[in-house]
Amino acid sequence: MTTTAIYPGTFDPITNGHTDLIQRASKLFDKVIVAVAEHSGKQPAFSLQERIDLANTVLTNVDKIEVCGFDTLLVDFARQKNAQIILRGLRAVSDFEYEFQLTGMNRKMAPEIETLFLMPAEQYTYISSSLVKELARLGGDVSSFVHEKVFSALKDKLKNKIK
Ligand code: COA
Repeated sequence: MTTTAIYPGTFDPITNGHTDLIQRASKLFDKVIVAVAEHSGKQPAFSLQERIDLANTVLTNVDKIEVCGFDTLLVDFARQKNAQIILRGLRAVSDFEYEFQLTGMNRKMAPEIETLFLMPAEQYTYISSSLVKELARLGGDVSSFVHEKVFSALKDKLKNKIK
């Protein structure tokens, strides 16, 4: 049986923390689908297509990966893709409560799909896409948190406010 894991998120933009998690997952599953959410209750800075393109660029060298956008319920998309596993990252205790709710809701709607959690490397446990954008907007150096292509996309998006 092929084991397919789906890793959903907003990825606005994809960071080195996400990539670290995806690299770990690619060693564990036959296929990892990076599912970029159109609707996640956030107002993304990058369009869905931009977020998909950036993820594809960053992940070119990672095996067994597919990047897809979705605008449905996550569990419906997981079923459509024949994924048995939803993968989420846990960085700190503060992630737990939201993840607990998400997992509970998803399990209620799709009991056959398991949610599994991985932890990124510790140097990425404090990164988030919002913090990266805030830093970039205020002229901070985010080059160690994101891929160089994401760095230049952020520069373009934030009108060259990055040093
Ligand atoms: N490294 C760095 N940052 C990480 C990370 C990691 N390993 N893991 C999570 N993050 C950050 C993200 O960058 C994000 O930061 P932000 O809030 O600043 O944008 C934050 O942690 C959590 O976001 P993420 O993991 O991307 O998830 P999300 O909360 O943006 O996505 C969905 C939530 C997409 C999974 C959820 O909204 C969903 O399933 N939507 C589809 C519709 C649906 O089914 N809704 C019902 C759900 S019960």
